[in-house]
Amino acid sequence: MKLLIKSGRIIDPSRNIDRVENILIEEGKISSYPAETKKLEKDKKINLIDASGKTVSPGFIDMHVHLREPGYEHKETIRTGCEAGAAGGFTSLVCMPNTNPINDNASVTEYILLKARKEGIVNVFPIGAITKGEKGESLAQIGEMFEAGCVGISDDGMPVMNSKVMRHAMEYVRPFNIPVISHAEDKNLSGNGVMNEGFFSNKLGLGGIPNASEEVIVARDITLAELTGVHLHIAHVSTAGSVRLIREAKARGIRVTAEATPHHVMLTDEAVLGYDTNAKVNPPIRTAEDVEFIRDGLKDGTIDAIATDHAPHSEDEKKVEFDLAPFGISGLETALPISLKLVTEGVLTLNQLIEKLTFNPAQIVNIDRGTLMVGAKADLVIFDTEKAFTVDRMKFRSKGKNSPFHGWKLTGHVEYTIVGGEIVYSA
Ligand code: DOR
Repeated sequence: MKLLIKSGRIIDPSRNIDRVENILIEEGKISSYPAETKKLEKDKKINLIDASGKTVSPGFIDMHVHLREPGYEHKETIRTGCEAGAAGGFTSLVCMPNTNPINDNASVTEYILLKARKEGIVNVFPIGAITKGEKGESLAQIGEMFEAGCVGISDDGMPVMNSKVMRHAMEYVRPFNIPVISHAEDKNLSGNGVMNEGFFSNKLGLGGIPNASEEVIVARDITLAELTGVHLHIAHVSTAGSVRLIREAKARGIRVTAEATPHHVMLTDEAVLGYDTNAKVNPPIRTAEDVEFIRDGLKDGTIDAIATDHAPHSEDEKKVEFDLAPFGISGLETALPISLKLVTEGVLTLNQLIEKLTFNPAQIVNIDRGTLMVGAKADLVIFDTEKAFTVDRMKFRSKGKNSPFHGWKLTGHVEYTIVGGEIVYSA
């Protein structure tokens, strides 16, 4: 099937392109940028999308999602997670290993990839666990998982508390040239904390998680990355101190990259007032000062990527006392309009934002996506930066309706998501 996308504003940071052009897609790939389309439009074998007034970019790549399958299919499945991704403009999802069983060996990786091939409407790239069962004790079958298709390793959801085990993992993984993704948290400092430690945790009488809980592990992992030369990626940066540490490490030439989530740049811990479990997330939403630092980090390139940490949970699980609810926000279907606020608020240009949603995450996990150069896989998103709508979490494709953005009036709407030249979502 051929597809002609006409007159869209094409933003492709991989090639530094921002101009109105036509794109012809053939056999699942970007085939050409025809200047003249009259003849093509008459061809009955070519589908036409008029993208006038819309933005066309490489499909978004979410390098941090929880698809929950196998094991927690009541929260999400590979099918529903991919549908949510497509609705959010994502053509590739990088999924974390804290499933049941944990993705700590090649047979689980193969299961995920098989399911994704059969039921997933977008690309799925698994992350393997660092340690067996994410227990932090002995290394998982990293080599086999790499062979099977894992694009990085992480014990996301759980930190690797033993520094020697982390060092060993970094040394082991270095020859594979895949990143070690750090969920930076000192479990002893977090204790029984359920939100940011500060004014609002005191006011609400809830246990706090201090910034230091994240920062001591960010500092440790940067130190170990320097020792081993591995590519370290810091997941979901939430504190001012982490931004400072990563900025300084980058300046010293250490191989470190980082991501931030839309909720950590758009909310403060005040969101927890009213004991709203939809704002309970790990790492917790922090203060206005932390938000400012993360925004500065995005602006100056300290933070390379925007990733959602899409963490769907069922209504039953979230409708309990704050202390008992699981951590997590369902983020795939609000990521674009929330992130676009960074553009309207003057933090990022639209081109910088798209780079952090496409080219940069593709580079971090080393996948051949995130570009619209001729010959590349035709993974694209077409969106309207002006279209306003109100978030209705009950309309999410995701099984996880746990969003703190319910009822927000936002602008930025996905019109089409295209994977390998096929339309997988249209508004
Ligand atoms: O909020 C979170 N939810 N943070 C994590 O690190 C894990 C995730 C989950 O799996 O629910």
